[in-house]
Amino acid sequence: MDRILIEGGTPLHGTLAISGSKNAVLPLMVAGLLTDQPVILRGTPRLADTRTLASVLQELGAEVEEFGSGPGEGVRVHAHDLTSVRAPYELVSKMRASFWVLGPLLARARKAEVSLPGGCAIGTRPVDLYLTGLAKMGADIAVEGGYVIAAARDGLKGARLDLPFVSVGATHVLLMVATLAEGTTIITNAASEPEIVDVGRCLQALGAQIDGLGTRTIHISGVAQLGGADHTVSRDRIEAGAYALAVAASGGSVDLTGITGEELGALLPAMRLAGVQVEENTTHTQPALRVSGPDARPNATPVTTEPYPGFATDLQAPFMGLMCRANGVSRIRETIFENRFMHVQELARLGADISLEGDTAIVTGVDQLYGAPVMATDLRASVTLVIAGLAARGTTTINRVYHLDRGYERIEEKLSACGAKIWREKI
Ligand code: UD1
Repeated sequence: MDRILIEGGTPLHGTLAISGSKNAVLPLMVAGLLTDQPVILRGTPRLADTRTLASVLQELGAEVEEFGSGPGEGVRVHAHDLTSVRAPYELVSKMRASFWVLGPLLARARKAEVSLPGGCAIGTRPVDLYLTGLAKMGADIAVEGGYVIAAARDGLKGARLDLPFVSVGATHVLLMVATLAEGTTIITNAASEPEIVDVGRCLQALGAQIDGLGTRTIHISGVAQLGGADHTVSRDRIEAGAYALAVAASGGSVDLTGITGEELGALLPAMRLAGVQVEENTTHTQPALRVSGPDARPNATPVTTEPYPGFATDLQAPFMGLMCRANGVSRIRETIFENRFMHVQELARLGADISLEGDTAIVTGVDQLYGAPVMATDLRASVTLVIAGLAARGTTTINRVYHLDRGYERIEEKLSACGAKIWREKI
């Protein structure tokens, strides 16, 4: 097992390249199961989660190969034959997005046996929306022995799917399935996250007929089969947000390349309210943002998580990392997941003053954080500890960094190149 050590208090300076989006590449790889032609994905990140998903796809009979190195590297998924329709517990339980193979298996092989993903540290995360939607499209669904057993002997039929609330994963899966269903599907209350748009564009390149991507209502006309595609994955707005917050917390100035201010979405106004400068920088060969931390402590700033275009739940914990040293009291409200405050106790170990009132964390900024041993509890909580550790005086030791490795590519390398004192140790 590895741990990460950070000697805090050094402002970050330099240039940091943002990787391909984890939350886009995972559903894009899953979409590769919809066709017997190769799907080439470029600009993909190398992460523990992409490796886990590759194992799931290989288990089902797909060829999954990484190619190249550095910019332009990617993954080729070729599911010419599906040799199994069973995604086992041992693989699905490692990462929730593996459950999404249910959709393509059902659409292409007309049957699927996929382990339920189970709960996770940030909440119960049920799958009722997926199952209700697939049943409406004509699938017979049973849950037996912890597995979803689904069959659509006569194929799936287009339907009107009114989702009761926004779910990114359910939108991904129902959108994928609808591309091969007979007739028209309308998904209302669909997620409009940029990653949905990215996947939808790739599906269009495969030959799918989709209208309304990026809005709350998506229309899909099913086609008999899909072809291949060569698709470049969008950059990771959540990774970019975390690094922007790390720079803000350290008080330095860094150019984040590959990302625009628009892609940061609701984080951008929140950071500006906090006193962080964020400007487009046109001196690079690709889009870039120069992020410069405030000279003094940041201003206390309230945020409430919401589906896109609201403030992303995946940036709630990292934003709290910055607010720990703010001048004043920040109210941070989480409305997407019911238990996404696991990082609060760990931040308290660094000297943060945070209390919880239902779905709201009340963060009273302190003048100084102090390094301490802490434990990463989930993916986004883990990067929060890096942000707070960079801002703290003394040494922070982060245990259970496998959470970090699920979603942040070469994090200590990227931050070290900007002057951070951060290193990994094997224990
Ligand atoms: C995805 C993202 C995750 C992000 C989340 C919300 C990936 C790989 N993961 O997760 O990083 O935090 O979107 O932006 O892209 N729900 C139900 N029933 C369902 C489905 C969802 O009750 O059938 C609930 C969940 O428990 C949660 C809420 O809906 O409270 C939103 O979850 P959802 O958008 O589905 O999250 P994921 O797709 O799992």
